[in-house]
Amino acid sequence: MERFLVGDTSEIVIGRGDVFNDLLPARAGREKIALLSQPGAAQVTDRIVSEIGRVACHVIPLPDRDSAKTLATAEMAYRTLADLGIGRHDTVVGVGGGAATDLAGFVAATYLRGVEAVYVPTTLLGAVDASIGGKTGVNLAGKNLVGVFSHPRRVVIDLDILDALPDQFRREGMAEALKAGLIGDRDLFAHIESTGLRSSLDVVVPRAISVKVGVVNEDFREAGKRAILNYGHTIGHAVELAGDWSHGNAISVGMVAAGFLGERLEGFDAALRQRQAIQRLGLPVRAENLDIRVVQGLLARDKKRDQSGLRMVLLRGISDPVVRPVPPDEIVGGLASIGIT
Ligand SMILES: NC(=O)c1ccc[n+]([C@@H]2O[C@H](COP(=O)([O-])OP(=O)(O)OC[C@H]3O[C@@H](n4cnc5c(N)ncnc54)[C@H](O)[C@@H]3O)[C@@H](O)[C@H]2O)c1
Ligand SMILES: [Zn+2]
Repeated sequence: MERFLVGDTSEIVIGRGDVFNDLLPARAGREKIALLSQPGAAQVTDRIVSEIGRVACHVIPLPDRDSAKTLATAEMAYRTLADLGIGRHDTVVGVGGGAATDLAGFVAATYLRGVEAVYVPTTLLGAVDASIGGKTGVNLAGKNLVGVFSHPRRVVIDLDILDALPDQFRREGMAEALKAGLIGDRDLFAHIESTGLRSSLDVVVPRAISVKVGVVNEDFREAGKRAILNYGHTIGHAVELAGDWSHGNAISVGMVAAGFLGERLEGFDAALRQRQAIQRLGLPVRAENLDIRVVQGLLARDKKRDQSGLRMVLLRGISDPVVRPVPPDEIVGGLASIGIT
């Protein structure tokens, strides 16, 4: 079992098999827990209910994926928590991928002005990214338009659950883990580079989490350093929207484009290695058939833009990120490097 602290009060527990013994932080007065459970995590939720003997468990099923991240679902959850008599000393547990933990965190942070939240991420992306860092929220006109910063009291990760995920889920999470290696842990990068999709999660999950925890502990509210977590995400988000791509696929081509720009503008000498590592994971390195005008239109809406260009995260080397403006003509070159012309 491995443990990390995020700030003073939030703990991440990583293990195999028997982790749910550690689900609930020791605290007096807790009588009930409400499990906000995603459809794909129903079996995990059943396991938690059968393994937690001491307190009353109530399961609140959530709609799947981002259809859980709505104010309507939050309202359904608040009303159910109130009907169940969940009080200040009780606990809300989010079980599922990032959509479930984002919603559960938001509900826990706002119900009764804040009750204890615990997350059980059941996707690799949830474990290495969404459940870490304290961002919670729901979608409205835009993604994550309404939310609060609030750390869960505990995040409990069972690597056996993550090892059983289908390959495409594993790839989605590995894309974020590779990003963590590129911005902050050269050994993690080298491990994924040499072992690909079958890289040991005992290595990948704690190391990727510790990169994110390190960044978040320095910069909780995104004033500065936290921006480096967006490596590959500027062009990646535009591709995600323009082509209706999955997030992991989109940030993979986003990282390839950022690698190309890093090589041109910052002397990054591992762009080829980065590209090969992405390919080895079975993630895409090109995004043909996208209309460059649509992609550029989406980039023009990016919040991180000023007269000198788009502010992007580039690498000077592995584990050596820099945030800098990239002029429009260079962006055109970056898009061309992934087949968007
Ligand atoms: N808060 C943050 O900092 C942060 C960071 C990154 C992403 N996110 C959010 O996370 C969400 C994406 O998370 P995600 O990729 O985990 O997807 P998801 O939560 O949408 O889940 C994807 C699918 O996986 C299924 N599933 C869950 N666990 C499973 C399991 N063990 N076996 C089989 N299927 C399972 C779910 O039912 C769902 O159909 C987005 O809403 C995104 O905005 C948040
Ligand atoms: Zn991401």
